[in-house]
Amino acid sequence: MSSFKNVEDSRTKYVGNFIRESDFLVVLTGAGVSAESGIPTFRGADGLWRKYSPHQLATYEAFMKNPNLVWEWYSWRREKIKSAEPNPAHISIAKLEKVKEKFWLITQNVDGLHRKAGSQKIIEFHGNIWKEKCISCDFKRESYEIYKDELPKCPNCKNLLRPDVVWFGEPIDPDILHMSFDLVKGADCVLVVGTSGVVYPFAGLIEFSIKSRKKVVEINLEPTPFSDLCYISLQGKAGEILPQILNYIVQ
Ligand code: OAD
Repeated sequence: MSSFKNVEDSRTKYVGNFIRESDFLVVLTGAGVSAESGIPTFRGADGLWRKYSPHQLATYEAFMKNPNLVWEWYSWRREKIKSAEPNPAHISIAKLEKVKEKFWLITQNVDGLHRKAGSQKIIEFHGNIWKEKCISCDFKRESYEIYKDELPKCPNCKNLLRPDVVWFGEPIDPDILHMSFDLVKGADCVLVVGTSGVVYPFAGLIEFSIKSRKKVVEINLEPTPFSDLCYISLQGKAGEILPQILNYIVQ
């Protein structure tokens, strides 16, 4: 047991050292980063997509068919997220931004916990649950409302407002997509944390990083399709491994 722990410690130290020496670090995150804050993931044992159907809750067609049901689900998620706090994984990533001169974070998470932890150089690839947009005009706003009966309407055109998140079948904003690939292209080290790596085009960022022989480090509770292809894959909780890595970077 203790020799296993020593091997793990030396791997974390090794990762800490080369992240410290890296020129440009990009961090890619998914739902696993927020799991230790009590936010359910999508595909784990208690994952949201095990209990609910994404086709009924996370597509434009579903929203147009039953906006009450979709808003009810997003309101339930807003309530859950509202009381959640960033965990040591979010906090370590925010600290990494402070010590690395060239740094960007690209997250699939819509919960806003990275920002709450202090991250600023961040791209929210799938949008943000605290933002809403009109289904027909350009109106957008930030909102912390929980909708029960009455659904939000656009103050300009009176059409429905929807959560400003990316649903299945919807494209990623081209500016966000290009910027994300440009950032990963420029990076020499890519840290991939808490994502199953099965949703594209985000998973394409991981794939591209591996193919272009960047130092890709994965942190995940379980093996993913990319684990064997990464430079180093660390298995365990992000909220435990990231602070250890940070200790070797900030001395
Ligand atoms: P998933 O639920 O697919 O995967 C979560 C990953 O986090 C799994 O690989 C877990 O093993 C890992 N994990 C869980 N707890 C962890 C912990 N404490 N530390 C480290 N890893 C942990 O979530 P995503 O990959 O983010 O998209 O899913 C991608 C997209 O699918 C989401 O953004 C969402 C969803 O459908 C949209 O809604 C468009």
